Amino acid sequence: MRHLIDPLDFTKDETEELLALAEDIRSNPEKYHDKCRRKKIATLFYEPSTRTRLSFEAAMINLGGSVIGFSSANSSSAAKGESIADTIRVISKFADITAIRHPKEGAPMRASMFSEIPVINAGDGGHQHPTQTLADLSTIKRRKGSLENLTIGLCGDLKFGRTVHSLIKSISRWSGNSFVLISPDELRVPDYIINEVLKPKNIKFEETSSLEYALPKLDILYMTRVQRERFFNEEDYVRLKDSYILTKEKMQLAKDDMAVLHPLPRVNEIDTHVDSDKRAAYFEQVENGMYVREALILKLLNLA
Ligand code: NCD
Repeated sequence: MRHLIDPLDFTKDETEELLALAEDIRSNPEKYHDKCRRKKIATLFYEPSTRTRLSFEAAMINLGGSVIGFSSANSSSAAKGESIADTIRVISKFADITAIRHPKEGAPMRASMFSEIPVINAGDGGHQHPTQTLADLSTIKRRKGSLENLTIGLCGDLKFGRTVHSLIKSISRWSGNSFVLISPDELRVPDYIINEVLKPKNIKFEETSSLEYALPKLDILYMTRVQRERFFNEEDYVRLKDSYILTKEKMQLAKDDMAVLHPLPRVNEIDTHVDSDKRAAYFEQVENGMYVREALILKLLNLA
């Protein structure tokens, strides 16, 4: 049985197949609307979420299936001290597939070891978020026509931002991409991303603290929120939270066909005046996320 815990659990070719399937679902929804009849997804969310949980649920409903689950640790038996291993053994009896978000790095992976059903990592602490990456790849491909030869700027909280880690890991497999890593010194990308992902593959990257310096070079700008919930103290968060704010004025420094992505939620890092710029791709990114999740559910259930 397959799971999606890490973005590399699907090969580059399989990832392209998922993106293609998502496009077919978008164009021919009626072909798929009964595929998951009588199937259930369990969404186990031990951390807050709007998009990810609801897009999994919308995805399953679009496929003719249904949804069970919980949206906070407090409303599950975790509050009574149940282990993730026991929870997943129980959920395996009720559902056909599950998406798990957890504040602890590795929790969905641990669940997969005890699970009788496919487990999807819907975000584990500051570690990985592979289905957001599918949404990101889909958006980049739709906007740029390709996942190759792109200069990709990632800006903000590169240390705790799990979407950043997963996107770098995944898109590094397409040739000719380079990265500009834009962050305050304290929020630089973790060493393992540099030493285990970028350097071994000889991928070009540079680190800078200046968004203005990076902007003119970029094909993609991936903005992120400073991850308040991962900070040890509030003072550091308050000091760093507004490190980068993308404004209409700054957008004048960027290429005409750059695409701005953001996994959302946004706090202050993109001024709302940027929303009407044709380069703003973050709301279509949300929609793309639903279709890629439909494709993923079908693949993991061997229905496509
Ligand atoms: C992201 C996450 O949960 O990591 N949100 C999402 O799933 N779209 C980004 C964030 O919370 O900043």
